[in-house]
Amino acid sequence: MTGLLFASCSTKQRQLNSADQPSTFNKAAVVTAHPLASAVGVKILKRGGNAIDAAVAVQFALAVVYPNAGNIGGGGFMLYRNHKGEYNALDFREKAPLKASRDMYLDSHGNVIPDLSLYSQLASGIPGSVAGMWEAHQKYGKLPWKELVVPAIELARKGFKISQRQANEFESHKERFVKLNPSGAAIIKDTPWQPSDLFIQEELAHTLERIATDGRDGFYKGKTADLIVAEMNKGKGIIQNQDLTDYRALWRTPINSTYRGYKVISMPPPSSGGTSLLALLKSVEQFPLQRWGFQSDSTVRVIVEAERHVYANRAKYLGDPDFVKIPVQSLIDSSANASKLNPFNFHKATLSKDVQADVIPGYESEQTTHFNIVDEEGNAVSITTTLNDSYGSGVIVDGAGFLLNNEMDDFSVKTGVPNMYGLTGEKANEIQPGKRMLSSMTPTILEKNNKLFMIVGTPGGSTIITSVFQAILNVIDFGQNAQSAVSSPRFHHQWLPDRIDVEKDAISPLLRDKLTKDGYIIHPRGTIGRVENILILPNGKIQTGADPRGDDTAKGY
Ligand code: GLY
Repeated sequence: MTGLLFASCSTKQRQLNSADQPSTFNKAAVVTAHPLASAVGVKILKRGGNAIDAAVAVQFALAVVYPNAGNIGGGGFMLYRNHKGEYNALDFREKAPLKASRDMYLDSHGNVIPDLSLYSQLASGIPGSVAGMWEAHQKYGKLPWKELVVPAIELARKGFKISQRQANEFESHKERFVKLNPSGAAIIKDTPWQPSDLFIQEELAHTLERIATDGRDGFYKGKTADLIVAEMNKGKGIIQNQDLTDYRALWRTPINSTYRGYKVISMPPPSSGGTSLLALLKSVEQFPLQRWGFQSDSTVRVIVEAERHVYANRAKYLGDPDFVKIPVQSLIDSSANASKLNPFNFHKATLSKDVQADVIPGYESEQTTHFNIVDEEGNAVSITTTLNDSYGSGVIVDGAGFLLNNEMDDFSVKTGVPNMYGLTGEKANEIQPGKRMLSSMTPTILEKNNKLFMIVGTPGGSTIITSVFQAILNVIDFGQNAQSAVSSPRFHHQWLPDRIDVEKDAISPLLRDKLTKDGYIIHPRGTIGRVENILILPNGKIQTGADPRGDDTAKGY
């Protein structure tokens, strides 16, 4: 199933090319969005660190070498499985500050003020990443904390050569950086950034030193905290010292279900990722996808219709479980999900306006990054972390050198008004002080016969869930290897807007014409997500897939 070539029993398969070639390692592997971050992870593992140690070091390294999503000013989710098969999930999602209120992004007429929840000091939730890494290390870490932060300090102080892709990105965001950071910042340069330019971040190195020395207090108290609050006061920001000292990462119970005999474990709320992923798998399990084939007419229709229903429920029911009651078990129920696509109309698009969230009794965003690690013992970590938009709010904390998130836009700032990913929400995800905004992050681990089988996740805002979903189908139903499951072109539907977003080559011209005739709206777009993937082969070897859509890299030994 997981060899180099696709299984032969499927009627339609993708042609292999060089982007489908996986790497294989004997003992341990790290897959991240940047080669230097992957190298840091491997260095920590080789020094005797476990998967959690490596994850902490990678998170800090990404904050330096991958500033569009790697972060200390954002948040995320971690799924952990130890070598004994025990699971835990860590929620280090940002929270709304105490001064936040439901209508804080609306004008006096009740209209949303453009960009206020996106590109301003007011757009930031209380960052969770440092608390998350601290919490994970306190519970499971082996090597000293300081040793895990040092590689990031060195990268920030000595600098690293940026890639062509990064040079382009730094330039394309320059106007926003200049506007939001009048005092300047390391990322703002008078002359255009070129590939191989050295990117040195001295202020960030100092901030990381405070974190290395004082742990979580090096961020949430003292100089770093004061610099964050001072930055807030330069704009209309509302994060105060108390918000920072009070912030805690939380352990949550992972949710799980099965798909064709595999156990699928994923992130519970306040991410919608796990719940929606399991609902999608349960919706399509009844169909012979393998026989129909990869991206065949029937396969695409079934996937799209499943996504339409699942995202309608996401909009209505999901939010922070510490504030709203979420019917997770009803949402992932096998027969409820299966029944939505049964009977199924293969000749006509359902219209999203005709699909509403279920009535469950008793109840009323690509700019993220993901990494996977498996260590020599077989402990596995799957982390998705983000600033929300690329480079978050664009606000860099003056004197501290790191970007702040614009995660407040992941709340439903007004019922029915789409956020930057086009997602709508209702009461369950309205803003309240201290509440976590709903996420789509979907760090996921699969088991086969009680053994570790797959570690997977991706950035991509609202498309995260459907990209992880397709990567799993690519492996289980279509017999693709770890790399091909990631490289394969993807498509996405999220109920509203009522259209299928498609990457180049995701749907053949013939199928596109047929779907259009049957009432589907096809919306070509750029790349969807950057999936990172690890498969454990039957012989115990570790096969990796790093997404060719970015500079993503697998390393191991
Ligand atoms: N900020 C994207 C997400 O959490 O889903």
